[in-house]
Amino acid sequence: MALKSSVTLTPSRTIGKIDPRIYGSFIEHLGRAVYGGAYQPGHPSADEDGFRGDVLDLVRDLGVTIVRYPGGNFVSGYRWEDGIGPKAQRPRRMELAWRSIETNEFGTDEFMRWCQKAKTLPLMAVNLGTRGPEEARQLVEYCNFPGGTALSDLRIANGGHDPYGVKVWCLGNEMDGPWQIGHKTAEEYGRTATESAKVMKWTDPSIELVLCGSSGSGMATFGAWETTVLDHAYEHVDYISLHTYYGNRTGTPNFLAKNLDMDRFITSVAAMCDAVKGKKHSQKTVNLSFDEWNVWFHSNEADNKLPSWMIAPPMLEDHYTLEDALVVGCMLITLIRHADRVKIACLAQLVNVIAPIMTEPNGVAWKQSIYYPFLHAARFGQGQALDVEMRSPVYTDREFDQVPYLESVATYQPEDGSITLFAVNRSLDEAMQLEADVRDLPSCRVVESLTLTGDDLLAVNSAQDPDRVHPQVVNNAVIEDGILRVTLPKASWNVIRLQTAVR
Ligand code: AHR
Repeated sequence: MALKSSVTLTPSRTIGKIDPRIYGSFIEHLGRAVYGGAYQPGHPSADEDGFRGDVLDLVRDLGVTIVRYPGGNFVSGYRWEDGIGPKAQRPRRMELAWRSIETNEFGTDEFMRWCQKAKTLPLMAVNLGTRGPEEARQLVEYCNFPGGTALSDLRIANGGHDPYGVKVWCLGNEMDGPWQIGHKTAEEYGRTATESAKVMKWTDPSIELVLCGSSGSGMATFGAWETTVLDHAYEHVDYISLHTYYGNRTGTPNFLAKNLDMDRFITSVAAMCDAVKGKKHSQKTVNLSFDEWNVWFHSNEADNKLPSWMIAPPMLEDHYTLEDALVVGCMLITLIRHADRVKIACLAQLVNVIAPIMTEPNGVAWKQSIYYPFLHAARFGQGQALDVEMRSPVYTDREFDQVPYLESVATYQPEDGSITLFAVNRSLDEAMQLEADVRDLPSCRVVESLTLTGDDLLAVNSAQDPDRVHPQVVNNAVIEDGILRVTLPKASWNVIRLQTAVR
């Protein structure tokens, strides 16, 4: 017996416009993300800048809209000046966040060039761990001021003739975490973030700023941190950050429901922003930047055994399974469902380090399982997010009580009439018959339906078997009398693309 569930697709039930920047990612100076990932002079596919062409191709295809850089924990000890100018003169440094050696061969100018080639936008983070407002402001001047000052002329001398126009800046990284270099109390961080924000915006009034929220909703200071730092910085910032990573630690049914925790996290932080807004009688709304999210747990044990002070050690190299891809799919659905408040999100990270793209040092690059749900969402999940009024049987879980077997959201582009329904069947045992009421969609027809599933939830892709986990075009959705019927295989990610008449 198959499970039965239903949704209703109504173009007027909009949640909010999807900001394309929710399909962002992240490259940190960590492990082989930069060295051996994005950048590897001498690799057969490397271009004149030393950027791996195979990685660039996969990044472009993935549709990543914005990339956060250079960290992460790394940024809290980073001197950005080390990474500019002639490469032979750049210093090697002990990098304390990941106990590695940083060669500084790749820095701000290389990252900007890489972003242009990857057809993505840069999202820069500044160091508020060991440094402060002035160094942060100087980096804004270096990147964005047209010319005629020492720092902007230095950029031009380093090959950046046109200003980089970096629009979004993170005010530090996870400053609430004791593991952070220069960890601060909420009061300390709130003050330094405010002073940094002021001078950064005076340097370039067009920029937008992301204040550090908690590094996870499980932090003891979660809540108090947000309200305190917002109390200081509310009028100076545009977004507050959220970070979360999940792992399969208590069984697959619980793992597949983890995005419900992400849902709660988003709702709580949005409420905190609005509480501070009310308290301050402010006209402005601070939105959310979910600038680190993913599955991360496979590599934890191996990383504990890695020696310190290597250059580009193979750290955080999770090999993602089919079930991880389903969790990532559910997390994408959550992000879309909160399109009214989440305006930026970064899948952490992009290459080699907890990443959808992996490389062999002197060989090929390949797509991990999680590449696919991200690609589908970035490509087809544009326009308005729609509330689909889900009705689904549930299962019980100790953490979440009632978990719907169906996870779903839809997106609608009024300009061209395209609609995409994203759906995960969380059941590990049964297929699901999904009915979608499409009576509100004139002349609705199915364009395509895709499914990512398989018999082995733990199957992974590898250099030797790069297509072990990949989506299939199934085209099994049928519309009759205003009802779309489709069977979602057990443990599957599904994308049903529809076309309706433009209103
Ligand atoms: O993405 C890996 C690390 O996770 C980042 O450096 C840090 O911000 C987070 O704790």
